[in-house]
Amino acid sequence: MFFKFTLSFLLLCRFAASQQEDVGFTYNGFRGVNMSLDGLAQITDNGLLKLVSTTLAQVGHAFYPLPVSLMNTSTGNVLSFSSTFVFAMFSELTIVGGPGIVFVIAPFREFPGGLPSGYFGLFNATNMGNSSNHIIGVELDTLQNEEFNDINGNHVGIDINDLKSVEAIPASYFSDKENRRIDLNLFSGQPLQLWVEYNGIEKQLNVTLAPINVPKPTIPLLSLKIDLSRFMVDPMFVGFSSSTSALDVSHYVLGWSLKVNGQAKELSLSQIPKLPRIGSKTKSRIFQIGFPVIGASLVLLLIFIIQFTVRRRKKYAEVLEDWELEYGPHRFKYKDLYKATKGFSEKELLGIGGFGEVYKGIIPTSKAEVAVKRVSHDSRQGEREFIAEIVSIGKLQHRNIVKLLGYCRRKGELFLVYDFMPNESLDKFLFNQSTTKKTLGWNHRFQIIKSVASGLLYLHEEWEQVVVHRDVKSSNVLLDNELNGRLGDFGLARLYDHGGDPKSTHVVGTFGYLAPELARSGKPNPSVDVFAFGVLLLEVACGRRPIEGQGSEECVVLMDWVVSCWSGGNILETVDPKLGMNYNVEEMELVLKLGVLCSHSLASARPCMRQVVRYLKGEIPLPQLPSLTSEGSCDLSTWCPYLGSATSLSSSTITDSLLSAPR
Ligand SMILES: *[C@@H]1O[C@H](CO)[C@@H](O)[C@H](O)[C@H]1NC(C)=O
Ligand SMILES: *[C@@H]1O[C@H](CO)[C@@H](O)[C@H](O)[C@H]1NC(C)=O
Repeated sequence: MFFKFTLSFLLLCRFAASQQEDVGFTYNGFRGVNMSLDGLAQITDNGLLKLVSTTLAQVGHAFYPLPVSLMNTSTGNVLSFSSTFVFAMFSELTIVGGPGIVFVIAPFREFPGGLPSGYFGLFNATNMGNSSNHIIGVELDTLQNEEFNDINGNHVGIDINDLKSVEAIPASYFSDKENRRIDLNLFSGQPLQLWVEYNGIEKQLNVTLAPINVPKPTIPLLSLKIDLSRFMVDPMFVGFSSSTSALDVSHYVLGWSLKVNGQAKELSLSQIPKLPRIGSKTKSRIFQIGFPVIGASLVLLLIFIIQFTVRRRKKYAEVLEDWELEYGPHRFKYKDLYKATKGFSEKELLGIGGFGEVYKGIIPTSKAEVAVKRVSHDSRQGEREFIAEIVSIGKLQHRNIVKLLGYCRRKGELFLVYDFMPNESLDKFLFNQSTTKKTLGWNHRFQIIKSVASGLLYLHEEWEQVVVHRDVKSSNVLLDNELNGRLGDFGLARLYDHGGDPKSTHVVGTFGYLAPELARSGKPNPSVDVFAFGVLLLEVACGRRPIEGQGSEECVVLMDWVVSCWSGGNILETVDPKLGMNYNVEEMELVLKLGVLCSHSLASARPCMRQVVRYLKGEIPLPQLPSLTSEGSCDLSTWCPYLGSATSLSSSTITDSLLSAPR
């Protein structure tokens, strides 16, 4: 081994003698050294070669100023050479560096087309990989660049004309002492030493890395059999190229030696300059650091704000189309409704109806108390007319009508905003005694009846269009502070026409209040409201639901019972026992008989709302109804589909439709 070395050394000396002086230098620090510098490269006062130190994407080149002949001109073979240097890369602010330093052997020492960042100041997209580059490099790469097939963000690679390394390996060294490979961090700020050695006879390129306090390991990090003569020209320049991306990093070379045709002299580690202490520059660089820090904080803040806004946008997203803009005043912001109902909290839930849940809310801007009805509703054709109708209903102004304040649309959901009625609905007063405690006295009941009648009259005859409510029932009569009745839940019946299940029947309303002709034609006209109003009258007078014991054998139809008592001459037997004797007999009889009259199975036999109001006011007397007991009641008995004993002609049609009707 020794012999072989000596022999080859002698051979090398022979070659050397035949050529001009082989280049060799040793710089234990760069103070006073003539280097060819460009870009950000500079020599610091204490003799460090500072390649780059910046927060911007920049490059720095530092080359031995003279061309170096690395070739035996007679044979064309590349000579043996050896070089070693100590370097350090670090950042005071980031733990990711980028990208690093390349030890370069190139036909020139300026790289006008060399881009910063991943291109290491050497290449660009056009010349990358071009064999006419004649560039050989050893990269110390601290940034993984997928584009160049980088193995990781901390590796050493041999590059030829390209940044896609011929061979690369994670930064490490072989510890002779411990007889194992030890990982190294290129970007730790600790000075590391690299050896690049080429044997021109063996045609082998070795790259070895080690911490500075460790002697050169016997086993190199990379050992590549390669004939560099294929890639080199004569002469070449030797030096360093470095670049930064947008991160604040510092790249230094502390000392460097090179020898052509021989072993590079060991660096005298005691002589090489000290690195600036990390953190020592903090004060003087307060602005340099301060701004990036502030900038980074701002960026983070911005990202946070954007995320927050996006999430908020999503949370409060609504469906708003151009044609809705004219409904501006009737359009509520989902955000406001969300806040008003405390996020549709269960605590604010007033009730759940056939169409959806109703929440109590306080609109944050106006502090107005509202009831928000949330209806699941898919946008379909006819949406536009439906909303137009909702809005037009919103224009209804009557003291016996719960005002529809507006609406809001979201994907799959519709929100209707109504005036809030503190006393809830009439059915709770009539049937749920436990929750309301107070029995509704007759005066109140009669007042409520009259107010609902006047509301219906307004809808049917007094507004610019005829509005059919289609769902008159005690649970849709809401009571205000003074126990005035107000008809609520407008517009929802139309939902079935616009967004309902098209397969289901178009009968709209609530079982027990449905006029029989609805089952046949499905076309609502005001008389269906009159029918339901008749049922409502009986409910209020009798304190019973329209159909009790539904589904059981003893299904009692309130209408039948009242009619049969009436024909038996004791109609007052049906009066709500909770009232005791505390009622006006005339008014009671009027209400019961009017109820039966309004709910006549023949639509043509029902009075209109104007007449109803006049009967209730006592302006005109109720007509005598001799025929009713004999004929009318017979048809009415077909009401309950569960009786099974229904005999009337129309019963089967009604039954079928009602069973499949939506609730
Ligand atoms: C390689 O570079 C040379 C010199 O710049 C140029 O003439 C040639 O077209 C390039 N080849 C390719 C494949 O880009
Ligand atoms: C390269 O390393 C190998 C051991 O892996 C060694 O045999 C060879 O002599 C080395 N060559 C140079 C030029 O240092």
